[in-house]
Amino acid sequence: MQYQIKKQWVVFVSILALVGVLSCNKYQKTLVKEQYLDAEIPSYGVGNPITVDAQIHLGRVLFYEKSLSVNNSVSCASCHKQQVAFADNVALSPGFENRLTKRNSIAIQNLTFGGVFFEPAPLFWDGREFDLTSLISKPIANHIEMGMDNEEQLIAKLNALPYIQDLVHKAYGENEKLDMNRLSTSMASFLMLINTNKSRFDQSIIMGTKEFALSPMELRGQQLFQTTYQCNNCHNPTVGGYNNSQFINIGLEVNSSDKGRMNITNASQDEGAFKVPDLHNVALTAPYMRDGRFKTLSEVLDHYSHGIQDNKNVSPRLRNNDGSTKKLNISDEDKSALIAFLNSMTDYTVLTNPLFSNPFKYK
Ligand code: HEC
Ligand code: HEC
Repeated sequence: MQYQIKKQWVVFVSILALVGVLSCNKYQKTLVKEQYLDAEIPSYGVGNPITVDAQIHLGRVLFYEKSLSVNNSVSCASCHKQQVAFADNVALSPGFENRLTKRNSIAIQNLTFGGVFFEPAPLFWDGREFDLTSLISKPIANHIEMGMDNEEQLIAKLNALPYIQDLVHKAYGENEKLDMNRLSTSMASFLMLINTNKSRFDQSIIMGTKEFALSPMELRGQQLFQTTYQCNNCHNPTVGGYNNSQFINIGLEVNSSDKGRMNITNASQDEGAFKVPDLHNVALTAPYMRDGRFKTLSEVLDHYSHGIQDNKNVSPRLRNNDGSTKKLNISDEDKSALIAFLNSMTDYTVLTNPLFSNPFKYK
C-alpha cells in the first residue's frame, strides 16, 4: 500500500515537472523546428515563363517568412490566415510583441479588381493606400505589426536566409539579390492570385453556369439583399460582391473613436466613414466590421435591423425621408435567407488551394 502511494506520488511529481519544463519559454524556443523549402518551384498557372513562377513563389515564401518581423515571430500569414480566407479569426491581431492591431485584419482577396471605372481600389479600412506594391512595406515597418522600419537591415537579413539566393536567382537571374522592389513586386504578384471567383454565387450569378444554381432560399436572400433591404446600394453584387471605392458611415456609434477616412482627408464629413468591405468569403471572416465588434453575421444583421445609431455622418442611404435613421426590421426568416445568400459567396477553393499554402516544411 505504502509503495503504491509512493509510486503515484512519483508519477504526479514527474508530470508536474514536465508541465513546468514545457511551459518554460526558454525550453520552448529550442523546440522550434528548423524550416526548409522544397527545391522545386510549382507552376502557378499564369502561363508565363518559368521566371514568373519563381517570382510568384518568392512572394509566397516571403508572405510566410517570419524574418520579415523584427524578432522573427510574425509573418504576413500570422494575421492573414489561409484557413479563414486570409483574414484573421480575432477582432484585433497580435503583432510582433503581442500588441494588438488597431483594426480588424482584412481578407486578402480580389486585389486585381480595380475600383469603379478602373480607378485603383482603395486599400485598408480607411483607403490610405492605393498601390498594392507600396502597401507591402507598410505592415513590415508598422510598429505594432512587424516592427522592421529599417529597410536596409530588413533586406540584409532576408538576403542572409539560407534558401533565398537560389530563389532570387531563379526569379531574377544569376548574381541578383533581393531588394525592396523585388520583395514588393513578387509578393504583390502572389497576392493578386487570390481570387474568389469559384464561389457558387460567382459561378451561378456572375458566370451563369447552370450546375451551380443557387437554392430557392439563397435566391430569396439575393432578392432581399438587392431589393427589399437594398444592401447592394453599397455592397454591389453585380460587380462580384464588392464596391470598394466609397467610404461610408453606417452608424455603428454616435461618436466614433476611430475617425476612419477622416484621418486621411481631414474632412469632418468623413469622420467614422470606412471602406465598404468585399463580402466574398464573409461567412469565414468573423468577427466583423473594422474593429471586429460583431461575432456573427446574425449580429451584423441586427445592426442593420435596429442598431443604426444617429450621427451627423450616417449615410443618407441608411436614413428615412424624415431624416431619422433606418430600422430595417429584418424578420428571422429573412435573416436566414440573407445569411444563406451571403454563404453562397464563399469560395472554398481559396482555403484548400495548395499554391496559396505555407510552402515551408519543418524538420
Ligand atoms: C499583426 C497583424 C498583421 C500582419 C503581420 C500583417 N497584416 Fe495585413 N492587415 C492587418 C490589419 C489589421 C489590416 C487592416 C488595417 C487597416 O485597415 O488599418 C490589414 C490589411 C491588409 C491589406 C489590405 C487589404 C484590403 O483589401 O484593403 C493587405 C493587402 C495586407 N494587409 C497585406 C499584408 C501583407 C503583405 C503583410 C506582410 C508584409 C501583412 N499584411 C501583415 C493585419 C496584419
Ligand atoms: C450605406 C452603405 C451600406 C449598406 C446599405 C449596407 N452596408 Fe454593409 N457595410 C457597409 C460598410 C461601410 C461596412 C463597414 C463598416 C465599418 O466597419 O465601419 C459594412 C459592413 C458589412 C459587413 C461586415 C463585413 C466584414 O468583413 O466585416 C456585412 C456582413 C455587411 N455589411 C452586410 C450588409 C447587409 C446584409 C446589408 C443589407 C441589410 C448591408 N450590409 C447594407 C456599408 C453598407
